[in-house]
Amino acid sequence: MKQFCDYEGSTYRADFWEGQGREYEDRVERAALHSLLPAKGRRLLELGSGYGRLADLYAGCQHVILSDRAFSQIKQARDRLGGDPCFTFIVADAYALPFVAGAMDQVVSVRVLHHLVDVPAAFAEIARVLSRGGTYVTEFASKRHLKAIARYLLNRQPPITVGSQRANPFSPDPYEFAALNFDFHPRWIERALQQAGLKVEARRAVSHFRVTSLKRLVPLGLLVAADRALQRAGAVWPWTPSLFIRARKP
Ligand SMILES: C[S@@+](CC[C@H](N)C(=O)[O-])C[C@H]1O[C@@H](n2cnc3c(N)ncnc32)[C@H](O)[C@@H]1O
Repeated sequence: MKQFCDYEGSTYRADFWEGQGREYEDRVERAALHSLLPAKGRRLLELGSGYGRLADLYAGCQHVILSDRAFSQIKQARDRLGGDPCFTFIVADAYALPFVAGAMDQVVSVRVLHHLVDVPAAFAEIARVLSRGGTYVTEFASKRHLKAIARYLLNRQPPITVGSQRANPFSPDPYEFAALNFDFHPRWIERALQQAGLKVEARRAVSHFRVTSLKRLVPLGLLVAADRALQRAGAVWPWTPSLFIRARKP
């Protein structure tokens, strides 16, 4: 079994989303996901859905499967959304999805890849369960973001917590900045998708203004609108900490 980041019993929702002033991140991620998701679909799988933060965005889909490795996260999702017959809740590992080949029209994963030790294996599994023509929308943490580049150029890097890597934002290899928390180079992710047989067709750069002082000073609506306006163009040479990609199984 591969190592995994254990969210069992975690207070992720309360601690990360509700107590930390991350409304900006939540709103800009929703905007990116909304712009990349096909308007309609038959069957959508969200992998690593947690408590179902993004579930309302799947309203255009007939059947939505929320899955996560942590039972307690899926239980929270079911407590929130279980009354809606469109949803099914499944405890499942990204490396061994309990579905037959070609079962899904859409797969989504947001804030999950950064916990995976073996992204290529997860991509292979996602490609297997996708139908022909099906889409995979994913978010990942980029190592080539503006703060990391500035720190690197000024030689002001945070202390290394895992291994002996120097945080070089331009090197292609994943960077494990804390145990089971990885930042990825955009090209590395795209190559891994390609190797899994998934063709990248759209990109979004997200969270341009993830800076505490900016978030404090600038009205939220304005910051969100500015980020949305930049998401598409910013993806040409992205320098944001979060990137979204839509890939298709040809
Ligand atoms: C940071 S949370 C993101 C939750 C949700 N996608 C969101 O954006 O709010 C990461 C989630 O990925 C799940 N996860 C981590 N490793 C996994 C794996 N190998 N298979 C399935 N889920 C996994 C965790 O249990 C956790 O719920």
